[in-house]
Amino acid sequence: VEQTYIMIKPDGVQRGLVGEIISRFERKGFKLTGLKLFQCPKELAEEHYKDLQSKPFFPKLIDYITSGPVVCMGWEGVGVVASARKLIGATNPLNAEPGTIRGDLAVQTGRNVVHGSDSPDNGKREIGLWFKEGELCAWTAVQEPWLVE
Ligand code: GTP
Ligand code: MG
Repeated sequence: VEQTYIMIKPDGVQRGLVGEIISRFERKGFKLTGLKLFQCPKELAEEHYKDLQSKPFFPKLIDYITSGPVVCMGWEGVGVVASARKLIGATNPLNAEPGTIRGDLAVQTGRNVVHGSDSPDNGKREIGLWFKEGELCAWTAVQEPWLVE
């Protein structure tokens, strides 16, 4: 089954949006496999966003992600990677559709409250990057037969 790495960025934590954001993924029907509040070291932020290294906003992005605790999450489900990206909405919150997390809760690209992996391969890579093995749980949700036929 597909896995994605979702992270509530420091602005989401500071603005008290943790419960609201987790709720959206829970209510959709995805399964939580890992969860922690974490102060991210600079090296990890740089590794996570290494594809953006050459962008002019890269130093600001690293400052932003390390500016306070983040909430790290693993979520599992059929099609969870693409679906989570839809729930999150466009990178620029002003372009994000109402009903999406960024569309409802944010106004600027540099403060867009949440991260979601952009491919199944990156989902695996990022979960491996942010979690140690013992921090993840494989478990069966009792609601599963009521979500998937
Ligand atoms: P993530 O889920 O965080 O990876 O966002 P994304 O996939 O929608 O966008 P992308 O991977 O292209 O960029 C990663 C993050 O860098 C964005 O979510 C923003 O926080 C930040 N970012 C991207 N473009 C800009 C920009 O032009 N200015 C600033 N300040 N930040 C940017
Ligand atoms: Mg991205």
